[in-house]
This record gives sequence, C-alpha cells and structure tokens, in this order.
Amino acid sequence: MQNIWALQTPAQNLAPLDLSTDVSVTPVAGAMGAYVSGIDVAELDAAGLGDVRSLLHRYKAVMLRGQNPELTYERYADFGRSLGELAVDPYVEPPIPEHPEIMGLVREADDTRYNFGGDWHSDGTYLEQPGGLTVLWGRELPPYGGDTIFSNMELAWEMLSPAFREMLDGRRCLHSATGLGDKKPITRKGDYAAINFGAQREVIEHYHPIRRTHPETGASSLFVNQAYSVQIEGCTEDESAGILGFLFDWAASPALTCRMVWEPNSILIWDNRNTIHYAVGDYGGFRRAMYRLAVKGEAPA
Ligand code: SIN
Repeated sequence: MQNIWALQTPAQNLAPLDLSTDVSVTPVAGAMGAYVSGIDVAELDAAGLGDVRSLLHRYKAVMLRGQNPELTYERYADFGRSLGELAVDPYVEPPIPEHPEIMGLVREADDTRYNFGGDWHSDGTYLEQPGGLTVLWGRELPPYGGDTIFSNMELAWEMLSPAFREMLDGRRCLHSATGLGDKKPITRKGDYAAINFGAQREVIEHYHPIRRTHPETGASSLFVNQAYSVQIEGCTEDESAGILGFLFDWAASPALTCRMVWEPNSILIWDNRNTIHYAVGDYGGFRRAMYRLAVKGEAPA
C-alpha cells in the first residue's frame, strides 16, 4: 500500500528535449519543474516560443533565468500575449493603470497580513474558464525564502488506486471564490498582503470535472485544490469533506512536488491545468514584488 507521506513516484522521462534554441535545462525534481537559461523573453522568436511550450508540456513549471534587467512592463506583457490571450483578474485591482492585465503581488517588509497565494491552489478555478498558464516576474526578491512550491496533478491522478479513480471519474466538484484565502469571505477587504481588491464582490463559483484532460497533451490530472474546491457533486457534506481532505493531503505528498527557488531576473511560467502551487510566506521583514500575467484557459473537460 502507498503511504501518503512516503509516496514514491515511478521513473519520469527526463531525457533531454529536442529544442531548437541553445538553452540549458536543469530539472528541479523528479515530479516536475525546470530551471532554464538561454531564453530571453524580450527577444523570443517562433522557435523560442515553441521551445517554451515543449518545456511546459514536459516540466509543467519552468523558471526562465537570466532575463534582461531592463525588461519593461510593456515587453513583459507582450511576452504574455505571445502565449495566449491575457485575462484580467475579477477580484484584484491592477497596480499599473496602463497595464490592467498585470497583477501586482507586492508584500512589504512590515506586512503581517495573509500571504497571497499561501495555500495550495490552481489559479482562478472558481471561474468558468480557469487560468491556463500563469506567468510571474520576480522584480524584487527577499534575500531568502519566498519560494513557490508546485505539485504535479497528473502524477497525483495516476498514482491513485484504480478503484479510487473509478469512484471519482465523471464526478464534478464545486469551486468557489468564497475560499479565497483560508475561507475568508472575499468582502473582508484589507485582510490580504500583496493585493488590493477590485470592485468584484459577488462570489464566483463553477462546477468542474475532478479528472481533467489536458487540451494539448490529452493527459489526465486530478483537478481539485484546497483553496477553492468546496463540494463534490452528489455527495453529502461529510462525505465530500472526507474525500476532499484526503485528496488535498494526497496532492501535497512531497514526492509529487518541486520547490522553485527564485533568483533575480527570473520569470516563472506554470500550467494551471495540471499543477497546483503554494507561495511560501517565510520572508517576514523583507519586501517581495512580483508581477503576474494570466493566460486565459478553457472550460475544464
Ligand atoms: C500565486 O499564487 O499566484 C503567487 C505565487 C507566488 O507569489 O510565488
């Protein structure tokens, strides 16, 4: 029997990818994640963009290191648009008026409020069409800490027993923005560090399949997360809480995860369809300023 905290994953295919540009790729962990050098987002051609997509299919989260320190918001947003149509977050007020598509996650050194992203989640799963890719630019980093941890939800699905998968397959779960941060009601403006709430107050919620199929690779993944998944359709509240509680722990099993360590001039991209992530709030006393772009996704199927 697999022990949830001592889970061992099967061998992963980490053979070098056939890329068209001269890049250096360092896998972060067996489950997922890679650090990549040699891709300048401000100078990306079609071949480079193809490589970014291949890297994302393989590693699910890639940190593009060594970006030009002079990178502008304009070029950054252009890079985001080259990955797909950008979404504007319904709940968050953008910090740069001329770039409503850029979300600011800025935590000041003396801020002790709730750490934005400090729970396991996939971005915006309460939306009818949750985020596809997310792009995060670390503009000001603390001297230590502030890592972003990920979990591979394809492995999380694959490693459940066939009997458990059969029970979940075809079922839906309700995802609700009521869960934005530790189940605090979204109307409690001011509880969060790092963001200013925008005008949206209404709770957005939608049902999504528990087994999600990736639209580009066809791979299945477990599609629930601790922050937003609140009720399995057709189950009683107690049954749902028990099953979801197990799945949340399962998905956080260390062997499924990787820890991305930020370096100056890095841009992190991840795929929300097959991963969950967690922003570690362990850098009290230091400022951390991140700028996020959300590439629109599709209705999960
Ligand atoms: C997020 O959850 O989108 C933020 C991740 C981070 O700040 O590391």
